[in-house]
Amino acid sequence: MRKELIRDERAGSIIATVNSLAYAIEARDPYTRGHSERVTKYALRLAEFVGLDKKKTQLLRYCCRLHDVGKIGVPDKVLLKNGPLTFDERAQIELHPVYGAEILGDLKFISAGVPIILHHHERFDGKGYPYGLKKEKIPIEVRIITIADSFDAMTSDRPYRKALVLSAVIEEIKKCAGTQFDPMLTKAFLKIVASAAAVPTVSLAFHMLLNGHVSNGSLSKNRPRTKGKGGGR
Ligand SMILES: [Fe+2]
Repeated sequence: MRKELIRDERAGSIIATVNSLAYAIEARDPYTRGHSERVTKYALRLAEFVGLDKKKTQLLRYCCRLHDVGKIGVPDKVLLKNGPLTFDERAQIELHPVYGAEILGDLKFISAGVPIILHHHERFDGKGYPYGLKKEKIPIEVRIITIADSFDAMTSDRPYRKALVLSAVIEEIKKCAGTQFDPMLTKAFLKIVASAAAVPTVSLAFHMLLNGHVSNGSLSKNRPRTKGKGGGR
């Protein structure tokens, strides 16, 4: 009984720590409000679809919420800039995975996730940052987050552009399979999106996607086959 209480207390304080850090970054950058929560939901759907084990999935949950925590270290004039970034500003933004790994480095509950935070902007073709890791050298959790992160970025309004329609998002994701994204995970993610999009409205489609009403690879034969429209960068 006492052991259970201690375990519950620990779990509670971990969740509170994760939420506090996530709120700290969202307070710095209001346009990213809700971003890490949505990325978590998309990533967990994909993780479930491809059968990621329980331990990795729990770590993925924390890493999704905190993937951009290093943006706390980026100056406001760069982080909140509405126009295109200069070379130097881009370099400052690209340090955020390193800052994130430093911020979380001493937290025991997420120490196994530090490489995930550090590498969350790597690309499948090796053209990402900060280390240019390639293919399976990139942890699977990162390859999942990359797709979920981009999907949310493209389907959300940003100060510098409106959200893309869902058909354009799907085309963009398809185009990036094998370059930015892991092709196997891209295929799986597009199956989830296609299932969710096979309902009359985008909001309903996204609701279904978020709430995990789409089963592994199966498209409901009873749903209306209308195209969804979404919105993103
Ligand atoms: Fe990031």
